[in-house]
Amino acid sequence: MPEYETFEHDVLVIGAGGAGLRAAIEASAAGVRVGLVCKSLLGKAHTVMAEGGIAAALANVDERDNWKVHFADTMRGGQYVNQWRMAELHAKEAPDRVRELEAWGAVFDRTKDGRILQRHFGGHKYPRLAHVGDRTGLEMIRTLQDHGVHQGIDVYMEHTVLSLLKDGDRVVGAFGYERERGRFKIFRAKAVVLATGGIGRAYKITSNSWEYTGDGHTLAYNAGADLIDMEFIQFHPTGMVWPPSVMGILVTEGVRGEGGILTNKEGRRFMFDAIPGNYRAQTADNEEEGWRYCQGAKDARRPPELLTRDHVSRCIVHEIKEGRGSPHGGVFLDISWIKQKLPNAAEHIKRKLPSMYHQFKQLADIDITEQPMEVGPTTHYIMGGVHVDPDTQMSRVPGLFAAGECAAGINGANRLGGNSLSDLLVFGKRAGEFAAKFAKENSLGKIDDGRIESVAREALAPFERRDDENPYQMQKDLQDTMQDLVGIVRNESEMREALEKIDDLKKRAERAAVTGNREYNPGWHTALDLKNLLTVSGAITLAALERKESRGAQFRDDYPDKNEQFAKVNTMIAKATDGSMQVRLEPLPEMPDHLKRVIEENR
Ligand code: FUM
Repeated sequence: MPEYETFEHDVLVIGAGGAGLRAAIEASAAGVRVGLVCKSLLGKAHTVMAEGGIAAALANVDERDNWKVHFADTMRGGQYVNQWRMAELHAKEAPDRVRELEAWGAVFDRTKDGRILQRHFGGHKYPRLAHVGDRTGLEMIRTLQDHGVHQGIDVYMEHTVLSLLKDGDRVVGAFGYERERGRFKIFRAKAVVLATGGIGRAYKITSNSWEYTGDGHTLAYNAGADLIDMEFIQFHPTGMVWPPSVMGILVTEGVRGEGGILTNKEGRRFMFDAIPGNYRAQTADNEEEGWRYCQGAKDARRPPELLTRDHVSRCIVHEIKEGRGSPHGGVFLDISWIKQKLPNAAEHIKRKLPSMYHQFKQLADIDITEQPMEVGPTTHYIMGGVHVDPDTQMSRVPGLFAAGECAAGINGANRLGGNSLSDLLVFGKRAGEFAAKFAKENSLGKIDDGRIESVAREALAPFERRDDENPYQMQKDLQDTMQDLVGIVRNESEMREALEKIDDLKKRAERAAVTGNREYNPGWHTALDLKNLLTVSGAITLAALERKESRGAQFRDDYPDKNEQFAKVNTMIAKATDGSMQVRLEPLPEMPDHLKRVIEENR
């Protein structure tokens, strides 16, 4: 075997967004040597796309808030297929994690008496999102990065992991390459934390940038971990739709939290037309009450624009299908209307939503203080991922942990906005803590040279082929397939067709060909990422077929209702001994009575 550069750490964290950074900080604080691998440059993470805030029951704006209400909201939003223990830990620990971030230097908007300001977001009963304008995720990354770099963590930027390494059942490291020179590297570790984020690039329209190709999901699956809830993809209701070059870029829910309204081409606020029964008591049925809610009136009910994301996205799609959409295939999101209510509206909008103001001005030549935006659903987040122990975040593979978007359980069938940032903090910390503990209790394992050689050979194979399949074309074909056949509205025949196309693409991917050499070769990187995209796309489709009902983010027009049979199960994807992908239904753990009561009391 060639001599590959080899690094040794106690804990290796793969992925350097909010969850990865928080895990690395915690492991390092526990006194172990930590390596942090990021696919891109440090600080460039999907975390920054959670713009509107961190959900935590600090009760700074409404004293009625507490962990129980947050827990109940999260469970209701997830349609009760969440792992209840994760939702419980998250709701209880999020306030401390936010205060800790503040102590580490994070800047927040403030209440008049100087506490962290909190805003409304969809599905949260009280104003709960700690925020700084519409740049909260960015501030979180900046703070964690500043804190982390002083802890002696070794950072490997622009490195991509191709395979986890195992010694028997246990994970003992990772093998990957450095993007700049194309050189292979071995990372030996006693424990590995996956924090690679999501799968957005499996879809044509997405808020995710190029890094999000389901890497952690695939690494875990190939190493023998289970994936759960893969059918639940969050289509954020508001992405940009025009111009085409910026399609999918996120328009924060914070716009609606600050009073923004959704209208169709007739100027009608269509969200008033379809308020679901279970939310009717909590939802305003007139414009004035909705506005008062956004202004903080405690006796007012939420505007229908702040219903959960799954519902709002479906309503937008319905409006567009009925021919009442905007000129470029979306609907209108209008914050400028608040001029009727506030004398200094333009200044207020620029202060509360500075990034949105600049984003639309620079990318679409729209002044959002004067004109409505055109928006439509964009693939933003996957609720599904690596099945982990709720307390420790360890998968069923010893030594392999996962946190953040690539882990699953807390969100069930639909995530509430802002719960991602608190999830990253709460479970990033836990993953780091328990990975460090595992590392202290175990030694470095043995590295399997044969495995490394076969991964390296397979990775270099595209250079040997000529005039064969183009990786970019295959990625595009897959994105079209997932967007058109496994999108917001699904049915059996389209998903069967998608599975056939994915199988065909898998065969084509075996013939992926690239030119040039290994130094900074994006065509080669795309060919390597494609395998992961195909794995997660297969998993999403199989799970979506298995769940023969509509729940949360999964809407099937052949099974348009919820079905009791699926009310207490997760779909679980695992690799069979013959290498095939298998799906089954896995019963959820029974919820203890005291938590059932919390839900009842907060219906
Ligand atoms: O709309 C947003 O600001 C996104 C937040 C989130 O995904 O949590």
